[in-house]
Amino acid sequence: MEETSAGKKTKGLIIRGEFGKIIARQKAGKEIEIGELLVAESADQKMLLEVVDLLYASQLSEQNIELISGMELEKIEQEDREDQEKHQNNDERIFLHEQELRNYTLAQLKGIISIKGTKTKACKALPNFLSSIREVEAEDLDFLAKEQNALFLGMLRSGSKILPVPISLPTKDTLSHHILISATTGKGKSNLTSVLLWDATKKQECGILVLDPHDEYYGRETQSIGMKDHPMKNKIEYYTPKNPPIGTKTLKVNLMLIKPQHFAGVVQWSDPQEQALHAYYREFGSSWIEKIMMNVPLQKMGTFNEATIAVARRRLLSILDLEWSGHQLLCHGIFDLNAGSATVHDICNELEEAKTVIIDTSNFKGATELLIGSMISTEILQRYQNEKRQNTLRSKPIISIIIEEAPRVLGKEVLERGGNIFSTIAREGRKFQVGLCAITQLPSLIPREILANMNTKIILGTEMAAERQAIIESAAQDLSQAQRAIASLDKGEAIVTSNFARFALPIKAPLFEEYAAADIAKYKQEFGDDKEEKVGFMGFEAA
Ligand SMILES: Nc1ncnc2c1ncn2[C@@H]1O[C@H](COP(=O)(O)OP(=O)(O)OP(=O)(O)O)[C@@H](O)[C@H]1O
Ligand SMILES: [Mg+2]
Repeated sequence: MEETSAGKKTKGLIIRGEFGKIIARQKAGKEIEIGELLVAESADQKMLLEVVDLLYASQLSEQNIELISGMELEKIEQEDREDQEKHQNNDERIFLHEQELRNYTLAQLKGIISIKGTKTKACKALPNFLSSIREVEAEDLDFLAKEQNALFLGMLRSGSKILPVPISLPTKDTLSHHILISATTGKGKSNLTSVLLWDATKKQECGILVLDPHDEYYGRETQSIGMKDHPMKNKIEYYTPKNPPIGTKTLKVNLMLIKPQHFAGVVQWSDPQEQALHAYYREFGSSWIEKIMMNVPLQKMGTFNEATIAVARRRLLSILDLEWSGHQLLCHGIFDLNAGSATVHDICNELEEAKTVIIDTSNFKGATELLIGSMISTEILQRYQNEKRQNTLRSKPIISIIIEEAPRVLGKEVLERGGNIFSTIAREGRKFQVGLCAITQLPSLIPREILANMNTKIILGTEMAAERQAIIESAAQDLSQAQRAIASLDKGEAIVTSNFARFALPIKAPLFEEYAAADIAKYKQEFGDDKEEKVGFMGFEAA
């Protein structure tokens, strides 16, 4: 019998179950995957369902199955003995009548959302008993129509199938309410971040600071595609400590800009050390570091044990890459006595101009990277707190700070020793339009309260159960049944839960190189090579 087109799309029939645990029988010859989206349709509405589990079922008794499988194994062995090649065609083995009717697969489904035209509401009912379920189609998801200027994350995914439905979230809300990108190593965090960065750079409503410990986002090697190839290149600033490519900047930061508070969460001082640093700062102001290095004693702010100061001095020398020659302070790293007095100020200005600022921190010690991040973030937050006081904040772009290996500053252990600028931003940054985009392999190290504050979570493949659990417990949508789906995510596949999404969205991020190359080609086609005048940005370099 020939199948109708509706029949072709039918994947199964709902046969029993309960709310949140609907059981459907898979149609013979069709394949249903974990994480797949299915639709149950009734006269006036559609219900979107997600496959959360799969299991075998059979009409035969267990005893019978065991008997039959025993016979089957015997038969295989005999065949193998007789002639391996001749029996590759195993049709003969099927000796059950109506095998497809008797043995089948069951899928456990969860209702996600009810759709009525372009309106949706949470699923509060069961689909009709014995109703058929079919694969989802792009038209079913018209309600996800892209908002103008939304931030693109990837394409909608049903199991491992990609649907032609771009998924994006409202830029301002999403960035200011923090993003967590989490996955086991190699599952595509950096790739997805590149895609996000590429799209965010086009927006006027956000500035993005990227602390890049692997120097992977700008793509300074000419052959690798990166942010340097972005069509709106004039919206990108790249700071690197050595040999800056043409059009980019050398990262130098003046020592005078550092304050003791910038070390919070970056370096763990003992209490006396910390008090000594503050005392030096209070007495000598911006030249406090130089004075500690030169061993100038405190006059007004009390005395400290010489050993305490000696340890603090040694640690400062190491973090700041300085050397005391006995009579002169030598600067070997990015911190400098003379240069770089405007760097932090310039970077903050650039962020306020909605630019993407990438800082190559690949040659730094972790603490040095965090210190730079801390200095810029502190200044940004202060500026925006001021803007808020003056009621001028709304005209400013959101600023998002992308930080890799976020538990370094947001981990429980670090925070037990006291807060830092990053935890302050995680807690209250959104009031001031400053957000974090925290990338990690180990979300379980971040306190629950901070995880809960990260209103958008992009969950890529996560093999460790404890890490999945931490994310699931703090997700914006109920993911309690998503353990298996998360564990089985392939590279680039993700589940996005967000206060700004109607349901937990399964997505597949595009491969960055392909995505960027296609976008560059599109711009070229649209604006030609002399697009500078027409659209007000600088030229392309890569094809
Ligand atoms: N969306 C995708 N589509 C296809 N391949 C992908 C995708 N995302 C990542 N990959 C592949 O996986 C590799 C690793 O990805 P990526 O570097 O983004 O992982 P990561 O999670 O950042 O890893 P790490 O923890 O080491 O930083 C990439 O080089 C790319 O080949
Ligand atoms: Mg990475």
